[in-house]
Amino acid sequence: MKISRRQFAAGAAATGGLIACPAVAQQAPIVIKFSHVVTNDTPKGKGALKFKELAEKYTDGKVKVEVYPNSSLYKDKEEIEALQLGAVQMLAPATAKFAPLGAKEFEALDLPFAFKDDENFQKAMKGPLAQFLFSKLEPKGVKGLAFWDNGFHMFSANKPLIKPADLQGVKVRISGSKVADRYFRLCGAIPQILAFSEVYQALQTGVVDGCENTPSNYLTQKFYEVQKNITIARHAHLQYAVIVNSKYWEGLPPDVRTALEKAMSEATDFTNKDAQQDNAEALETMKKSGKCEFHVATDAERAAWKTAMDPTYEWAIGRVGKEAVDMIRKASAA
Ligand code: LMR
Repeated sequence: MKISRRQFAAGAAATGGLIACPAVAQQAPIVIKFSHVVTNDTPKGKGALKFKELAEKYTDGKVKVEVYPNSSLYKDKEEIEALQLGAVQMLAPATAKFAPLGAKEFEALDLPFAFKDDENFQKAMKGPLAQFLFSKLEPKGVKGLAFWDNGFHMFSANKPLIKPADLQGVKVRISGSKVADRYFRLCGAIPQILAFSEVYQALQTGVVDGCENTPSNYLTQKFYEVQKNITIARHAHLQYAVIVNSKYWEGLPPDVRTALEKAMSEATDFTNKDAQQDNAEALETMKKSGKCEFHVATDAERAAWKTAMDPTYEWAIGRVGKEAVDMIRKASAA
């Protein structure tokens, strides 16, 4: 989807320069527009606000960060296009959405049952895997700054999903990854890509029957109000890569860039620490609401889901490359 002239203008305005003032002309702050698709009270939403607070503090006000949550500036595909055009300066898309950037390798992170827990994931993203993935962005004029955690996906429909055959013929919304497309297809489901902002309505009106996402997203987007049965099998992980337009980033005054790097590093620690608790609380809130049924897969059920989805790994070699798949296997076993 092309971004409109209006959306481009909205994003491009006020990115720095001189402002007129009655008495003196003074240097306007450098504005960083940070667009994302979730609400402020999710791990990513809170991380963006933490980055804003620290960036403004560490640059002594030389930088102003404007956070646009909940797809208020751009939707999924539009935001990546806007970043490349320079209409927005910072994003944190789910890594499932990186193929349009020409970086399919990021989809390796969606491989089923790849990470044992959040600690395993966060450790992996501090090693060579992160450097490998970020190197794929450089030729596209995009720089990766950090990986942010949002824990494990759940999946849901309006019927119990206990074993892989229960997904037969179920239309499932996915966010963009062909790897997710494959693991759902292996269970007989019919995956469909939809923008995040369109999911609630699609579930409500039956355009799709089900979806996958983390507890914080189910709660804040109210998916749990339009889904009867949610299964927790920790089948896949949701993570974000915080990215900037490289030309923009390299063009910043060095002292400002250093201060922003410090702000990003601390905001990343904050987000990654918060994600697990945030999702646990979201789950409790939804359970208490009594609006849907939760099923925690037993070890045997998890094993059955894993077996059904496992051929994704062989298939993914043709999609993301052997190097990426091997790196995931290695990180997972660490
Ligand atoms: C999705 O589209 O499901 C996710 O990318 C939303 C998110 O957390 O960014």
